[in-house]
Amino acid sequence: MNADASVFFALWLKKPLRIAAANPSGVRLADAVARWVDLARPGPVLELGAGTGSLTQGLVRAGCSPERIIALEREPALVAVLRREFPTMTVIAGDATRIGDYLPGNVERLAGVVSSLPIKWFPVAAQYAVIRPCLDLLGPGGRFVQLTNAFSSPLRVDRLRITGREVGRVWFNLLPAQIWAYSECSPSFDNGAAR
Ligand SMILES: C[S@@+](CC[C@H](N)C(=O)[O-])C[C@H]1O[C@@H](n2cnc3c(N)ncnc32)[C@H](O)[C@@H]1O
Repeated sequence: MNADASVFFALWLKKPLRIAAANPSGVRLADAVARWVDLARPGPVLELGAGTGSLTQGLVRAGCSPERIIALEREPALVAVLRREFPTMTVIAGDATRIGDYLPGNVERLAGVVSSLPIKWFPVAAQYAVIRPCLDLLGPGGRFVQLTNAFSSPLRVDRLRITGREVGRVWFNLLPAQIWAYSECSPSFDNGAAR
């Protein structure tokens, strides 16, 4: 286990429900998530719950420059890892349920949002506080991509008035992981943007 994974593991031991995974996501999972971000759309890519940056690396491997990524993470020790590993990336230290307050005023559109927050455990009001500003900034056709370990939607689509479906499943991660994609209106997930 490398030093950053050890920091992550130690945090998980202390706060299992907040960290929600014993290890950072693997390469195969990160690449599978990144495939659902349409980099041809304008604007930055927002990553929520960036941890040690495993999914961030997937975005970079997919061709997204770190300068284009805005990463948010609540744990100070993980924020320090992100700032060290991605010195040109915008890293916000804070709670994702306040994302609407944190985003720089010049961000008018988001190309995509990737979340690995333990959002299935958030109360519906907190889910709303995360997803509403994101969908507003994504605009038509934008996707909120959520990584989870759940065989049903981690977001309360009925209460949030959003649409979503599972778009991927990775079995070779430590635990099988599911990738869900959500949008405002009628989904067009198979429009060729996903590779
Ligand atoms: C399952 S881990 C994923 C970490 C990393 N993205 C990965 O895939 O390896 C969830 C991350 O979300 C962060 N997190 C949990 N709740 C949060 C919140 N309300 N606001 C910001 N970050 C949060 C945790 O600190 C943790 O780093």
